[in-house]
Amino acid sequence: MKVSIIGGGTIGTSIAIPLKNNGYDVIVTRRNTSKIEFLKENGVEITSDNKRAVENSQVVILTLKPLDTVSELKKLANYTQGKIIISMAAAVSLKQLKTIAPKSYVVRAMTNIAASVGAGFTPYCVYEENEQKIQIVRQILGSFGESEKVEEKYMDALTALSGSGPAYILTIIESMMYGGLKVGLPRELSLKASYQTVLGSAKLLAQSRDHPSELKEKVITPGGVTIEGIFELENMRIRTAIMRAIEASTAKSREISKEIEQKVHELLNN
Ligand SMILES: NC(=O)c1ccc[n+]([C@@H]2O[C@H](COP(=O)([O-])OP(=O)(O)OC[C@H]3O[C@@H](n4cnc5c(N)ncnc54)[C@H](OP(=O)(O)O)[C@@H]3O)[C@@H](O)[C@H]2O)c1
Repeated sequence: MKVSIIGGGTIGTSIAIPLKNNGYDVIVTRRNTSKIEFLKENGVEITSDNKRAVENSQVVILTLKPLDTVSELKKLANYTQGKIIISMAAAVSLKQLKTIAPKSYVVRAMTNIAASVGAGFTPYCVYEENEQKIQIVRQILGSFGESEKVEEKYMDALTALSGSGPAYILTIIESMMYGGLKVGLPRELSLKASYQTVLGSAKLLAQSRDHPSELKEKVITPGGVTIEGIFELENMRIRTAIMRAIEASTAKSREISKEIEQKVHELLNN
């Protein structure tokens, strides 16, 4: 099956190689193709011709900025008839996608940059239930990590939590690394200890399926080392800070959604 990825930037290039490795024929587009030459070494085709890419593929993945997604889809809609379109854009709704490309099977998905190492998390929702098409979508998204079908009302929150999430976790890893430097660890050792701890904690949580607080209790011994660190974190209201980050990011996604609504209205009336 041939898959075209329209918009070979951060997300487009992150998913291209895992898809190719999973057996799909992949073609990636962007206007400045010199920046994605490296994909050719992995057997991925590149072009700046969106129409040709779309015409030659059964599934089209849009990895463009939200406003570009809307305007580019309008140009391509005649070529996407009967095809599956997976939009990875934040804030562009299924209804908006379907309004612009009424004859396509539209899917709204949200991955993250961990897709590039096959460890993305990609919630998605569909405009129409169609088990055969959903199976194709699940296989495609499964090429670069875990996926989960959700109701569209959760997409803005998931954009904030798991789409933007690597930025929050990388901030935490960086802070841990600096903590190590502050108490004299060599830089490389401090960085490795930080990311391995995050990786290991996430794996433990995923495999045990325990609540995070249950696992945390196992690390905190009375009068021990860990409770001193936890006391400082609680004092700096770390949980409130992270909750606020996700709340603010969700609000931004909802705000962009309103701007997109206006753009779709203008596009359809021109
Ligand atoms: N970055 C993330 O971590 C992340 C996470 C989850 C979701 N997303 C979503 O993914 C989407 C893409 O984000 P991104 O971070 O990957 O953006 P990006 O790095 O800016 O990639 C977009 C790419 O689209 C290309 N492009 C622009 N207009 C085009 C056109 N008409 N035809 C073909 N290619 C075109 C641009 O390259 P040229 O200028 O060379 O054409 C650019 O490389 C966004 O909607 C975002 O909401 C991003």
